[in-house]
Amino acid sequence: MNTFTYFYPVKTFFGEGAARSNLPDLLAKYGQNVMLAYGGGSVKRAGIFDEIKTILEAAGKTVTEFGGIMPNPTYAKVQEGAALAREKNIELIIALGGGSVIDACKIISAQAKLHEDIWKFEYDSGGQPTDFIPIGAVVTAFGTGAEQNNGAVITNTDKMLKAPLWGAFYDFAILDTGYTMTMPQKQVISGAFDSLSHCMETYLGTPRSENLSDEINEAVMRNIIKNIRRTVTDPQDRFARSELIWAAAMAENGILKIGKVTDFQCHMIEHQLGAYTDCNHGQGLAVLHSVLYRHIYKEDTARFAHMAQTVWGLSAEGKTEEELAIAGVEALAEFIKEIGLPTKFSEMGIGADTDFRAIADSTVITKGCCKRLTADEIFEILQECL
Ligand code: NZQ
Ligand code: ZN
Repeated sequence: MNTFTYFYPVKTFFGEGAARSNLPDLLAKYGQNVMLAYGGGSVKRAGIFDEIKTILEAAGKTVTEFGGIMPNPTYAKVQEGAALAREKNIELIIALGGGSVIDACKIISAQAKLHEDIWKFEYDSGGQPTDFIPIGAVVTAFGTGAEQNNGAVITNTDKMLKAPLWGAFYDFAILDTGYTMTMPQKQVISGAFDSLSHCMETYLGTPRSENLSDEINEAVMRNIIKNIRRTVTDPQDRFARSELIWAAAMAENGILKIGKVTDFQCHMIEHQLGAYTDCNHGQGLAVLHSVLYRHIYKEDTARFAHMAQTVWGLSAEGKTEEELAIAGVEALAEFIKEIGLPTKFSEMGIGADTDFRAIADSTVITKGCCKRLTADEIFEILQECL
C-alpha cells in the first residue's frame, strides 16, 4: 500500500425521510440567510423543492432561491450564484439536485468568500480556497457521488474547458431514495454507469497488484452491475435504487481510492467531449469506455484479466491472459448495450462535424492510466466512437 492520509468530513444521512428527520436539527447551527440552489425545475415539479423550503421556513430561515443551474454547470452560472450569495449575506447554501447543482454550489461557496477570480486563483496561481460558506446537499439525482468530495467539474465556455475546480466539502449530505424516484430512467442508468466508471477508473490506477482498496472496489462494482440489471427490469425497485445510491457515494467518498493513484483517463476525455458538445456525462462515458479499453488493455493484461474474473465472472479456463483481458472488455461492452446505454456518439446526436481534434488536443493526460496516451491516439479513439 502507498502512504496515505484519509480525511472524510461529510456527515451523510441515508434513507427515506432523511431530510424530514434530520434537516430541522441540522439547520439550528447555521445563520439566518439560506440559499436554496436547484436546477431546471425538476425538483419543483416533484414537490421536493416545496418540502425543503417549508422545512427551512419552519426553522425561521430567510430563503433566497437560486435556480437554473444547468447540467454541465457553467463558470458564468457559478459567478452569478456567488454574486447573489454575497449580496444576500448567505450563511448556508443548500444544493438541491444532482451532480451539476452539487458541484456548482461547492464553487459558489468558495468564490463568494474569495476576492479574486477563482479560476485564475486555482489555475494560474495554484491556490486552494480555504474560506467557504457552509454547504449542505440534498441529492435528487444520484450517480456522480459529487456530494462526497470537494472537486467540482465546471464548464468554462470562454476557454472551452470542462475542468475541475476545488471548493468546499459538504457539511452534510442527505441521500433519500424517495427523492430520486422521479428521475428519468435514462438518467438513472447513465448515473449508475457513471458510478461504475468511477470504480473502474479507480481500480485501474496504480498500484495494480492486489490490495484492500481494490478488493472492496470489486464488491462495489459487482453490486452496481447487479442493481443496474434489477433497475432495468423494474425501474421502481426501491431496494435496488437505494443500493445504487450508496454505491455511488462509496465510489467517491475516498475509501476505494485509499493508497491509489487513480486512472480517470476516460473521464478526462469525456469532460472535454462535454465542453464541446454539452453531452450527458454517463452516456459519454458509456460510449468511450470500451473503445478506450480496447486501446490500452495490452499495457496491463494482468489487471484487465483479473477484473474479467472478479467483476465479470469470466472463467480463465482455456484462455491466455490476453484473451481473458479482452473478454472482460467485451463483457463491459455487452453490458453497456444490454442496459440500453448508447454505444456510439451518433446515438447521442454527436456527429462527425464535432471538433474531435480540439477535444483530443485539450484532454488532460493522466498519470494513473496504464498507457500514456498521445493526443493523436485520443483523436483516433474519439473517431472510433462515431
Ligand atoms: O435540472 P433539473 O430540472 O433539476 O433536471 C435534472 C437534469 O436534467 C434531472 N433531475 C435531477 N433530479 C431529478 C431530476 N429529474 C427528475 N427528478 C429528479 N429527482 O436530472 C438531470 C441531470 O442532472 P445532473 O445533476 O446534471 O446529473 P448528474 O448527477 O449526472 O451530474 C452530472 C454532472 O456532475 C459532474 C459531471 O461532469 C456533470 O457536470 N461530475 C461530478 C463529479 C464529482 N464532483 O465528483 C464526478 C463525476 O465524474 C462527474 O464528472
Ligand atoms: Zn463521472
